[in-house]
Amino acid sequence: MQQENIFPFEAKEYSARQINIINSPKQLGHCDIDSEPYLTKLGIDILNKKQPIQFTPNVNETIHRWAPYVQGFSASFVQSIFDQYIKDYKNPIVLDPFTGCGTVQVQAKLNGYHSFGTELNPLLKFIAETKLNSWTIHPKELLKVFNNLDLSERTRAPRFLKSEKHFSKEVLENLEVLKGGIDSLSKTTNQGIVDLLNLTFSSILIEVSKLKRSPCLGYSKSKKVDPHAPFVLMNQKVHQIIEDLKTIQSEYSDFFNTQSRVYLANAMEYEHSNKFDLIITSPPYMNGLDYVINYKIEMGWLNFAENQAELKKVKDEMVVCDNVSKGLIKSFNPIYTNEWISDIKRNIQKNILRRGKYRRYDMPFIVHKYFDDMYRVFQMVVPKMKNGGRFVLVVGDSLIADVYIPTDLLIAQLGKDLGLSIEKIEKARNRRSGQIRSYVLRETIITLRK
Ligand SMILES: C[S@@+](CC[C@H](N)C(=O)[O-])C[C@H]1O[C@@H](n2cnc3c(N)ncnc32)[C@H](O)[C@@H]1O
Repeated sequence: MQQENIFPFEAKEYSARQINIINSPKQLGHCDIDSEPYLTKLGIDILNKKQPIQFTPNVNETIHRWAPYVQGFSASFVQSIFDQYIKDYKNPIVLDPFTGCGTVQVQAKLNGYHSFGTELNPLLKFIAETKLNSWTIHPKELLKVFNNLDLSERTRAPRFLKSEKHFSKEVLENLEVLKGGIDSLSKTTNQGIVDLLNLTFSSILIEVSKLKRSPCLGYSKSKKVDPHAPFVLMNQKVHQIIEDLKTIQSEYSDFFNTQSRVYLANAMEYEHSNKFDLIITSPPYMNGLDYVINYKIEMGWLNFAENQAELKKVKDEMVVCDNVSKGLIKSFNPIYTNEWISDIKRNIQKNILRRGKYRRYDMPFIVHKYFDDMYRVFQMVVPKMKNGGRFVLVVGDSLIADVYIPTDLLIAQLGKDLGLSIEKIEKARNRRSGQIRSYVLRETIITLRK
């Protein structure tokens, strides 16, 4: 067999899964080639526009740096979209249906643009709102409250989390003391200050833990954390926020009253009362991240979840990811499909049968549900776009059971089905994800227009 020549190995040394990966016909493949038939049908090309989209540079940006968030946009990417359309919309009303930690909305406010968003994870909604609504907090007052925290009462770590495993004994004790100080602030303390301190506390948790987020949460064997790190980092962060508040108050005071609303709501169901010029968003990626499990530590410590069942409830409402509960897929009742989705489902099914063993036998339906969920979001927001408005989405494609899924092109088609025109699709970068690391995937910016 050809594969035996390319990969001379003793088959018995490998698991069935590894053999499937090594023998995959998609080894050394490329999304551009597999996209050709789809592009021909759509009658478009993908333009190359290499640019940094990811959150990383935000760690140096005013306000954006208050909370680390691996799955976010870079502020400069959002700004580049605003700049691109500055002549088309004077004061655009902006929507991000998947607000996350609020990058789009914070950047909108820094330009004086009204913005709206929906987010299902209550922790992320809280982070986004705090970043948007704390602009008038007096830096001196924040410092005074922080310096005078009463550290005599502890708040115990959330009971449903394995905190003894997540943190060293000393770090855990210091976290409990710090959280106790925040929780025992008197009822008369400005709520904005309490929110800022809770946001700061949540933003140091992973850094002082034995964990890392890269982007999934996992243990880091090599990590060493000083027992006093909670106090040191909290102090640094509070001072960083104070510095940013001073900048905002001297340079952006004209925008204090700019409207920025984040709704704790499902983008598939939320009925907006506004009309929008610009929708800018990055939906979850199909075989991407679990936005609840990945933030369970912060959700637990900030009381946004008290047990696993509450975490699951939030997750079950989200746009599907590939570790969705089986029951949800069993009861899935689609309202959207097209020929491409049917072909992809059939091919995944065929390949799973050929392989004999696969992580999720219901994968064809998970893929279908992803596009069905996205359709439901589109159904809610497209009617709320103004004529001439634009819908800009950043998405990544996938390779599942040796079947290529051009998520960007399928989403563009979905927009077309709802009456939008495809203005352009730009490739921002190549990426590798999933089991077949030699296969080149992409991340694209889709621009649809009403
Ligand atoms: C890729 S992240 C967005 C990041 C955002 N662009 C930023 O810079 O912070 C996708 C977000 O969608 C949220 N989400 C998933 N399904 C949702 C739904 N049905 N309705 C609202 N939000 C949802 C997740 O919790 C996650 O925060």
